[in-house]
Amino acid sequence: MNFAISIKHLSKSYKTGKRSYRLAAKPMPGREALQDIGLEIPQGSFFGLLGPNGAGKSTLINIIAGLTLKTSGTVNVLGRDLDRDPRGIRRIIGVVPQELVLDPFFSVKETLDYYAGYYGIPAKQRRTMEIIKALGLEDKINANSRRLSGGMKRRVLIAKALVHNPPVLILDEPTAGVDVELRRQLWDYVRELNRQGATILLTTHYLEEAEELCDNIAIINHGRIIACDRKEHLLKTLNQKQLIIKLTEKIHELPEALRAYRVKIQDGDIAIDYNPHEMGVGGMISAVQAAGLTIRDVSTIEPRLEDIFRYLTREKAA
Ligand SMILES: Nc1ncnc2c1ncn2[C@@H]1O[C@H](COP(=O)(O)OP(=O)(O)OP(=O)(O)O)[C@@H](O)[C@H]1O
Ligand SMILES: [Mg+2]
Repeated sequence: MNFAISIKHLSKSYKTGKRSYRLAAKPMPGREALQDIGLEIPQGSFFGLLGPNGAGKSTLINIIAGLTLKTSGTVNVLGRDLDRDPRGIRRIIGVVPQELVLDPFFSVKETLDYYAGYYGIPAKQRRTMEIIKALGLEDKINANSRRLSGGMKRRVLIAKALVHNPPVLILDEPTAGVDVELRRQLWDYVRELNRQGATILLTTHYLEEAEELCDNIAIINHGRIIACDRKEHLLKTLNQKQLIIKLTEKIHELPEALRAYRVKIQDGDIAIDYNPHEMGVGGMISAVQAAGLTIRDVSTIEPRLEDIFRYLTREKAA
């Protein structure tokens, strides 16, 4: 398989500003924002990087983008090595940073033209208007960046990352503070870019968003990758489903015969947690009937990314 981004043994410890730490041969324990990260992002994938606040997502992205210096390890983007060819990498990636930073004196159009020029895109090949339209910025073309609302600024940042038609697009929380309509619009557009072959690396706090969009997902916690897999595989790893049995007559107490299951009463009905690899639903249904209860309806609930995320990043009780 070809990888758009390949990361090996990547570590990062931020300097603390204290001389003693700076001079220490080894980083202070627990100060590492990234610890020995290995990550391979298949070419053409829509890759989600998820993790709680402070997990190291932006640090990782900013290192790839050349905005933050790594401490050790290697990063390769479409065959270019970050140490040898950082400018080459910058030309083939588009990055939407988490922080809202814009040139305050430029209008929206000027900002985009400036960056297209910076990347040496000939005027004829520029997609400035297409991008402006896709991001709903038509009304703001001549507006001064300084006067834009937060959500509008975010749109300009996204537009800016797209002007050079990068084969790798990196989005750090691009929909934070963005309204529902743009979110839809933005995802339709990014999905289309992905269909045309662009590799997308996305961090988001909206797990439903990752679940809907991404084909591969990595979960990072305390600077370490704790899971990385195709989305379907990841969703299967919990091996946990729930069987909901609705009853004709609600109950308030569990029949003795059902106590063998991981069962609870939910709104007067029965909810049983089970591992589909260990147990079929037939036995559970029979047990409910044998307990003298009449079943009105049966359904199952699959694990969601949110459950997996919570399960993997839960703090171990001290
Ligand atoms: N410039 C910096 N100097 C020192 N420490 C930093 C700096 N930037 C980030 N850190 C620390 O590195 C760790 C990882 O931060 P990072 O911003 O990468 O997390 P994140 O996963 O992007 O979080 P969030 O979801 O809040 O955006 C945190 O402990 C953070 O405090
Ligand atoms: Mg971040």
